[in-house]
Amino acid sequence: MGTPKTKPEDLRSHRWFGVHDMRSFSHRARTLQMGYRREEFVGRPVIGIINTWSDMNPCHHHLRQRAEDVKRGVWQAGGYPVELPALSLGEVMVKPTAMLYRNLLALEVEELLRSHPLDGAVLLGGCDKTGPALMMGAISMDLPVIFLPAGSLLRGNFQGKFVGSGVDTWRYWDELRAGTISKEEWFGVEAGMARSFGHCNTMGTASTMTAIIETLGFTLPGATSILAADSNHVRMSSLCGQRIVEMVWEDLRPSDILTRKSVENALNVMASMAGSTNGVVHLTAMAKRAGIPISLDDFHNAAQQTPVLANIRPSGTYLMEDFYYAGGLLGLMTRLTDRLHLGEKTISGQDWHALLDGVKIFNEDVIRPIEDPVSDQPPLVVLKGNLSTPGAIIKPSAASPHLMQHKGKAVVFKDYKDMARRLDDPSLDVDENSVLVLQSAGPIGGPGMPEWGMLPIPKRLLQKGVRDMVRISDARMSGTSYGTCVLHVTPESAVGGPLALVQDGDLIELDVAANKLWLHVSDEELARRKAAWQPPEKRYERSYGALYIDHITQVDQGCDFDFLQTEGRRPVAEPEI
Ligand code: FES
Ligand code: MG
Repeated sequence: MGTPKTKPEDLRSHRWFGVHDMRSFSHRARTLQMGYRREEFVGRPVIGIINTWSDMNPCHHHLRQRAEDVKRGVWQAGGYPVELPALSLGEVMVKPTAMLYRNLLALEVEELLRSHPLDGAVLLGGCDKTGPALMMGAISMDLPVIFLPAGSLLRGNFQGKFVGSGVDTWRYWDELRAGTISKEEWFGVEAGMARSFGHCNTMGTASTMTAIIETLGFTLPGATSILAADSNHVRMSSLCGQRIVEMVWEDLRPSDILTRKSVENALNVMASMAGSTNGVVHLTAMAKRAGIPISLDDFHNAAQQTPVLANIRPSGTYLMEDFYYAGGLLGLMTRLTDRLHLGEKTISGQDWHALLDGVKIFNEDVIRPIEDPVSDQPPLVVLKGNLSTPGAIIKPSAASPHLMQHKGKAVVFKDYKDMARRLDDPSLDVDENSVLVLQSAGPIGGPGMPEWGMLPIPKRLLQKGVRDMVRISDARMSGTSYGTCVLHVTPESAVGGPLALVQDGDLIELDVAANKLWLHVSDEELARRKAAWQPPEKRYERSYGALYIDHITQVDQGCDFDFLQTEGRRPVAEPEI
């Protein structure tokens, strides 16, 4: 923690508003232009409200109003709130994948914080890539911040049954393709799927990442479990406004909160929720921004040691609304006290000993006891072998037990378009024992490593009743997806990784218990294929896509831009004004 600030002259914003020179004249004159009285902003902590609201982001559609609620808290605490819009990444709308733009938002947040007269900020977001992007920028800038999670949307409903974001979309789509439900029923699912603003209500990437960010210490206690449409969410927003003003005076910064121990807490919580595999990419990127070492083995080890206790789809039965009523993240954390570093402090100023004291669980089927986990399969396994040297990952808790040990012949698609064109072709040589392989879907190949890893099952196999197969790619998979999908194969095929060398008919072996993924092709043959390999054409020649392809790191490094990573680099200077 820095030195607590005791007077207006200690504030960062003083250099803009408090001094007496020609430039500060303009800063004040232009703020007066907006109708604020001098005493409303001079000498007060200036609080940025970084808002990722947009009409293209239903998950954040309430954040316009929540920004006003934050402002209420900031005014009450003696601060001056300023709202700054930032890139809004509505996961389902942004193509080819919102992941392509995570680093652009992270970069934008860092520069918004740096270039404006801000003393602290509240970061509003929750849809998949937004939480990590906001935090990556804030960690690099290291001003006091609070993350205000968007909150989950209400439980979906179709014909009296729960429907969960993503998970039930895939499920009913397979039934539609298999001919077991009608088009009218499909439209019924569509109408009942998303009944309010807020992020996905399953244990997708949004629920995973907001919980990880809370566990790292960046939210008010219990904030990430509150539903978006609950009036508690409004009160939590105003409290964020109040607390951030105190944090500015305390000089409580991300570097005081984010430690190797808080990262270990997040690894365990992610495992106990059977969190989205995207958590691997994002937590790696956030930790690396703080210079904290983290590896794929950390995720693997946490997943082997921590039972899955949150009974939420896709690994479990319920939805985030049930989780909130059952006690939420704080309830879950009380189950894990033996595995957590309880002395770690959060932005509340308290540690987990204090924050978990007296917390209760109200439904033991939703938040399970340690001795009765949701799955006997781990939520994540890192697979090693000649297809992926640093490791690929699989989520056994959302996969099929009968495929955990499997040998099959590869059916290779050279990219997504090739897969979409040929998958349902009756002449495709495929059966339920085949291993579907997708190439060119990694960080560079996608680009942006789209969530294509849950390859569709060929229609004719669906009609035979097949609902899962072994699938392998260098893509990611949505946290709402499920199935026996091997993901994040590294190095990716677009840079000539071994995945690029797989051919139709090659034998591939998956043995999850042995952490093994093996391509049964000799080293000599692989070397011969490598010599003949041609890199795919670059997808972008100019614009942001070209910058992305030139600077993106591989998935085991968090897919950050090389020039934004912290290790070995000097911090960026404050602006001269
Ligand atoms: Fe926004 Fe799922 S689409 S969280
Ligand atoms: Mg998602």
